[in-house]
Amino acid sequence: MLERIVIEPVTRIEGHAKITLHLGPDGAVTGARFHVTEFRGFEKFCEGRSFREMPAITARICGICPVSHMLASAKAGDALLAVSIPDTAVLLRRILNYGQLVQSHALSFFHMSSPDLLLGYDADPAKRSVLGVFEAHPQVVRDGIGLRQFGQQVIEALAGRRIHASWVVPGGVDEPLAAAARDRLRAALPAAREAMDRTLTQFKRVMDGHAEEARHFGNFPSLFMGLVGPNGELEHYDGRLRIVDATGSMVADGLDPSRYRDVIDEAVEEWSYLKFPYYKPLGYPGGMYRVGPLARLNVASRCGTPAADRELAEFRQLGRGAVLSSFHYHYARLIETLFALERLAELLDDDAVLGKDVMAHARRSRLRGVGVTEAPRGTLFHDYEAAPGGLLQRVNLVIATGQNNLAMNEAVLQIARHYVDGRRITEGMLNRVEAGIRAFDPCLSCSTHAFGAMPLRVQLVDESGAVVDEIARG
Ligand code: MG
Ligand code: NI
Repeated sequence: MLERIVIEPVTRIEGHAKITLHLGPDGAVTGARFHVTEFRGFEKFCEGRSFREMPAITARICGICPVSHMLASAKAGDALLAVSIPDTAVLLRRILNYGQLVQSHALSFFHMSSPDLLLGYDADPAKRSVLGVFEAHPQVVRDGIGLRQFGQQVIEALAGRRIHASWVVPGGVDEPLAAAARDRLRAALPAAREAMDRTLTQFKRVMDGHAEEARHFGNFPSLFMGLVGPNGELEHYDGRLRIVDATGSMVADGLDPSRYRDVIDEAVEEWSYLKFPYYKPLGYPGGMYRVGPLARLNVASRCGTPAADRELAEFRQLGRGAVLSSFHYHYARLIETLFALERLAELLDDDAVLGKDVMAHARRSRLRGVGVTEAPRGTLFHDYEAAPGGLLQRVNLVIATGQNNLAMNEAVLQIARHYVDGRRITEGMLNRVEAGIRAFDPCLSCSTHAFGAMPLRVQLVDESGAVVDEIARG
């Protein structure tokens, strides 16, 4: 029996993240919780739908990373069809994924984080914005806009302006790439690459000035997980799961990502709607792991492109084993953007991308399909169980922000312990907590449908449970 539960309203929910900091008798911070307070119910909402509709439906989960959901969903569909999709379709999906990576990383780095990184965490809050960055470093803002536009241009050249209309479908992609569109992207690449090189130079110039933040912004041992290619290289579309520990030693390798449930379980806490995935063999919460750019660079043996590999060698100097500070998500994000541009240049030079055979036609032949990709924020799982007719009976999505949930909570605690002094929340402390979470680039959109600035409320709670101070933003 298929029961369809519709949870309404799914589109009208506002996302609000809330943080509570718990004070002990001596006024020191003893606990911190990063609450994601709104529940979207997307998994239930998808039950009863055809798997063929799912790329378009799940692309609506998020206004920020629709492409990632579309890809993971289509891959789950490929698995239900039990098809190996045409080579050209694989190349085009990879190009699309890199386009998404570039535009999403540019949004995170330039729009969200560059004011703190370039103007300082204690800069005048009125100036600490993209406008303030433009006054001080106009070229950085121009480069940020240019890179984001380039990523967007890649997405539009393939999937069209209305990305929600789903160009990626189970079995392949809907339409081949036109030669003229390929030429336009190739012509735009050199400027994007120059912008990227300037950005890396600028970032490395200011990074040393943030040594204190790097020490306290979620700097602790954990596991790291991500997909890697056949030779251990950085991989965002396919591949096998690899997990390393804080020393950089391999904990698991070559895992079939469709068997993620063998190693990952999801815990639930009553104070947050966002689940808490953890690595099963180490239990909860000991099995804390991180995903996303920092994790991917920690698990990969190499990037596999020349310029990104040169940067990776420098990045590795930041840790003795794995690079542990979540502050370094920023640098990792830039290295990945560089890598994506290098890969895009290779892919777009290959005439195979113009192939016309982009779709495998097949009927559903399995009852369970799992699609896994690396979204900009980390590993994304779409796990579908279908009835023989193809309607979905069970949907499980494991999103990157959920997988970083334990680590984000730990980061908030670490930052609060270091920066909270007394029973007042200061601007500098609020900004650092916010920036510490922002380093992970959580997609509250994926978990709560919020867009743009992070709506955040921070409460300071004493041992009796009374709120002694509170500050809200956004
Ligand atoms: Mg789930
Ligand atoms: Ni998202």
